[in-house]
Amino acid sequence: MVVDVGTADKLRIYVLAEDYAGYNSPFLAQHGISFLIEVKFNGNTRRILFDVGSYAEPVLFNMELLSIDPKTVDMIILSHSHFDHTGGLLGIMKKINKEVPIFAHPEIFKVSFATEPEFTYAGIPPLRGGSKGEIEKLGGIWVLSRDPIRLMPGVFTLGEVSKEEKVGFEKNVTISLYKLEKGRLVPDEVEDEIGLAINTKKGLVVIGGCSHPGIVSMTRKAIKISGIDQVYAVVGGFHLISADEERIQKTVEAFKELGVKKIYTGHCTGLRAEATFAREFGKNFEKLHSGKVIEI
Ligand SMILES: [Fe+2]
Ligand SMILES: [Fe+2]
Repeated sequence: MVVDVGTADKLRIYVLAEDYAGYNSPFLAQHGISFLIEVKFNGNTRRILFDVGSYAEPVLFNMELLSIDPKTVDMIILSHSHFDHTGGLLGIMKKINKEVPIFAHPEIFKVSFATEPEFTYAGIPPLRGGSKGEIEKLGGIWVLSRDPIRLMPGVFTLGEVSKEEKVGFEKNVTISLYKLEKGRLVPDEVEDEIGLAINTKKGLVVIGGCSHPGIVSMTRKAIKISGIDQVYAVVGGFHLISADEERIQKTVEAFKELGVKKIYTGHCTGLRAEATFAREFGKNFEKLHSGKVIEI
């Protein structure tokens, strides 16, 4: 079913956490993603915090440098459970210090692990990310949904990308991740990743955390939900760090077919994929770094 998502008038994305600090930059890098997404519509301004990095401190430091008061955050989206997207939650919620909805997938609290090079917990870190109840006590209102949700004119979450919705080359990608399910370790395809899309005057802007379901499948899902097939930009980590040359090439081809104009990526995309995007898209590829501000 296609939903009339409306249109946002203006969009500004502040990069608050990224694996790269940028050249000669005063901002702090860390492993992870956090974006402050400022949306303008009908004379209103709303601030969406998309992911919270591994640690709160560098995010709050970068916010201060950008003159962003954490109290002005209107809502939070957690793209998926991985620690590098959720670890800063407790510290940042303490600074937001008010009731805010937190949009995430119902499986955000799952117990998941990476097995290479050794067995390590990969989910929300209990001490830094906090428990469900601790976050509620600080004002967090969990909005856990597998389905897409329209948040405001132009802005909608993508919900879960089902197996059927994945494009061929993004299916069955093994990433040595496992989760506990009824007392058994089973492969984790990170079904809990929900993306965000914003319909702007220039077209759709699709934002992923690690884009574990595949950035092309997530972009297609945004088109399917909204019925808008003009894609302006893809933003976030694309998790191509361990992808082979074929998958990287197919991603480039799919972006070209979809008419993607701008690519803003970093985090888990990996140097080889970034170099390919830089070669194929020239100045329309921009590497993310802490403190970067994207105006759309
Ligand atoms: Fe990540
Ligand atoms: Fe991840």
